[in-house]
Amino acid sequence: MNAPPLLTIVLAAGKGTRMNSALPKVLHRVAGLSILGHVLGVAEAVGSDEIAVVLGPGMDAVRTEALERATRARIFVQHEQRGTADAVLAARERLIHHRGDVLVLYADVPLLKAESIGRLRSALDAGSNVAVLGFRADDPSGYGRLLIDADGALQAIHEHEDAGDTARAVTFCNSGVVAFRCPNLISILDRIGNDNAKREFYLTDAVAIARSAGLTATAVECAQEEVLGINSRDQLAAAERIFQDRARQAAMRAGVTLIAPETVWFSHDTEIGRDVTIEPNVFFGPGVAVEDNVVIHANCHFTGARIRNGAEVGPFARFRPGAVIGRNAHIGNFVEVKNATLEEGAKANHLSYIGDGRVGSKANIGAGTILCNYDGFRKHNTDIGAGAFIGSNTSLVAPVKIGDGAYIGSGSVITKDVPADALALERTEQQVRPGWAAKFRALMARAKTPRPT
Ligand code: UD1
Ligand code: CA
Repeated sequence: MNAPPLLTIVLAAGKGTRMNSALPKVLHRVAGLSILGHVLGVAEAVGSDEIAVVLGPGMDAVRTEALERATRARIFVQHEQRGTADAVLAARERLIHHRGDVLVLYADVPLLKAESIGRLRSALDAGSNVAVLGFRADDPSGYGRLLIDADGALQAIHEHEDAGDTARAVTFCNSGVVAFRCPNLISILDRIGNDNAKREFYLTDAVAIARSAGLTATAVECAQEEVLGINSRDQLAAAERIFQDRARQAAMRAGVTLIAPETVWFSHDTEIGRDVTIEPNVFFGPGVAVEDNVVIHANCHFTGARIRNGAEVGPFARFRPGAVIGRNAHIGNFVEVKNATLEEGAKANHLSYIGDGRVGSKANIGAGTILCNYDGFRKHNTDIGAGAFIGSNTSLVAPVKIGDGAYIGSGSVITKDVPADALALERTEQQVRPGWAAKFRALMARAKTPRPT
């Protein structure tokens, strides 16, 4: 059976004042991606045919992020925050034209799994008109309670503020995630009133209204942590912890050895191959891909980099956007690579800056080599040929080209191109004065001896 088209409505009109931040709440990041980005990622992953994002007035930064993360998304503005049902109806124009399922997500719930949405949709396939994702709360206060009838169907949702003692004793709570397969959803939503403690239009009232219209509703359970909503900085940190635990487990299942998993930090998009070993204290920023058989020693920081098969990097390596570490290349301690490619088997083992350039295959970069890529105004390129040898403490002043197999003497400041297989040396000639040091010491010792008065 083909699933009906899916319209996903993401509610993001809330202000999120408890973050105490100039940044809108849903733009705070978990694993390097905005909270909203995570939610839109789920909306995409479950195969939404259309995505509507409901914002409050003036939330331009959120609008920009929404359109960046989900190019097909349409934005709707809820002018006044009058409750979750009113927020869904802000997308009325979309709802009117939609024939199919409707999924409602909250923009501040970043850890939701696509698989749980899959179970909600299965409930619709099995005949329910409304399927609500619920969880067992350690402390249910504040949440809507899911009231299950004798047949195991969802009867109604009672909001905490309005719930009587019996409902308050229920610990099965509404996550806010709900899927509808209702022939006339708009008429159900239009029947929701605001005669309640908060004077809000509660989306949760849709359940009782649907039931009274002869439709059916079900609750599907998921883990509480999956539907954690972010309202404060400590919830943000809690979400990060949960995300990281999941990512570490997933990496280990996929064949990655983590010596101290709790010290390795992944980004939302980190890709890691098989038989990779990662030592303690490694941080992956966004956009990093690590191929198979790589060894990452302790204390590294990577963003926007690709590390190819068999490379060995660190300890204390830093890769910034555009770094490509070739097959079997070696990058050692205190080496920074940015917008540069090291080809197969190249080595830079100690204390170097490799920015804007290419290091040819099997070239060797000596300790303390700097690619001087910036003249204070513009960036320039350095090209180092295959098999070149760059002596320690060399400055390569870009733009400059070092030919294949060329040899650069230590301590040189190279400002002109060097042909293949040539030696380039830039230093003043060494002077040697035999006995000078001993004489100098004797002179200084005499100067220190107090003179008789
Ligand atoms: C809501 C549910 C409650 C559930 C809880 C889970 C209702 C009436 N209650 O309560 O059953 O247990 O979530 O966290 O739905 N929003 C708008 N416009 C509005 C109001 C809210 O866009 O006018 C958005 C918010 O940005 C947020 C989401 O809807 O993303 C939920 O709003 P919130 O005020 O947090 O809902 P609760 O009252 O906590
Ligand atoms: Ca010099």
